[in-house]
Amino acid sequence: MKISVKKSAPLSGVIEAGGAKNSALPIMAASILCGKKCQINSIPKLADTENMKEIMCELGCRISDNTFDSGTLCGYTAPYEGVKKLRGSFLLAAPLLVRLKRAQIPLPGGCPIGTRPIDLHLKGLRAVGAEIDTYHGVVDIKCRQLKGARIYLDFPSVGATENLIMAASFADGETVIENAAAEPEIADLCDFLNKQGANIRGIGGNTLKIEGVRELSGVTHKIIPDRIEAGTYITAFAITGGKGIVKNVRSEHQKPLLAKLAEMGVKITEQGEDFLVDATSPISSASIKTLPYPGFPTDMQAPFMSLLSVAKGTGMVVETVFENRFLHIAELLRMGADIRTDGRTSVVEGVTRLTGAKVEAHDLRGGAALAIAGLAAEGETEISGAEHIFRGYERFCEKLSGAGADICTLND
Ligand code: UD1
Repeated sequence: MKISVKKSAPLSGVIEAGGAKNSALPIMAASILCGKKCQINSIPKLADTENMKEIMCELGCRISDNTFDSGTLCGYTAPYEGVKKLRGSFLLAAPLLVRLKRAQIPLPGGCPIGTRPIDLHLKGLRAVGAEIDTYHGVVDIKCRQLKGARIYLDFPSVGATENLIMAASFADGETVIENAAAEPEIADLCDFLNKQGANIRGIGGNTLKIEGVRELSGVTHKIIPDRIEAGTYITAFAITGGKGIVKNVRSEHQKPLLAKLAEMGVKITEQGEDFLVDATSPISSASIKTLPYPGFPTDMQAPFMSLLSVAKGTGMVVETVFENRFLHIAELLRMGADIRTDGRTSVVEGVTRLTGAKVEAHDLRGGAALAIAGLAAEGETEISGAEHIFRGYERFCEKLSGAGADICTLND
């Protein structure tokens, strides 16, 4: 799929962010734990969430609109075709293990931004009593009864923390997860589970204490707003020198981005869950280093780099979370950006003009970054591989064009 973006006038008007993809995926998986009906509201309609629904239906869940009924769950073997499209499907490991005492999930494999191993998930699941074997490209996880344990994560992995929270919620006794990831999406998962009767303490911090329970009830839950989607649209206003509103944003989730934008001269006024963005003054450069939450989010690194490409001065970007998350740089160079890279560090020298070019999206956030750059580049930017963007942004072109961007999908 392709997207065409043309240099756009300063954006104005309103763009609304939807529910967070990275909350929706673990919460959909976690709905399996209770074996009852749950209503999950604000799930964004994306390729990733649709794939997750398909995999869950193949395992016997009944899903219609936002109602998830896992009372009919019967399969523990996740289909290869679904899993290879969606790394987040490994989040089904713990729920299947809890409900059916077994989970067989094809190894999710690498992806362009890194090898993305699952060793921390497996180490943690072993600690709570799972037996794990890997053969023919499938991880086969079994257990009798899960038992509480003390787990220290070598790195605060988001996915591993989520799988372990779900497993520990049904383990005998207490589990303590140290160096746990503290992303808002993890807090959302914990809130969903606690509402169902789970006993998770330390939410929002790096040490989680989870007392296992025997039963969870079905509940209704609303997914938190997508901080990366909102951040991407704030960046779109900024790169065009625009002024407008991004709706459905939680300021407590946006601190690292807000701090950098303030440093660069973008004015943001918070009005409840609306952000009034004013980028009508010239923008100067800044440096970022991606880190686990509450550090600067790795998912915002690529869109932010597009903004740095046209900001006045020099900025440094250090990517510490993924080993290969600079794939957008080669494409930004085609558009006239001045970026030098050495390993996980890039130096971005702001240029006075970008020019539209044919470029390729290799991954989700890198693809969004090219669209953002395209808004400020003279002429037309044609982005192939746009399906990556639609994995994480609902109605991407429609939302941006609603604020005056010249962007549309192209027929291949
Ligand atoms: C989640 C997000 C993704 C985001 C990332 C980091 C979802 C669906 N995706 O991905 O958008 O970019 O968090 O904020 O929520 N690692 C290991 N071993 C493991 C697990 C991870 O070495 O067992 C490494 C990874 O290779 C990576 C780093 O830890 O370098 C962070 O990965 P992780 O936090 O697990 O990211 P995901 O949960 O895959």
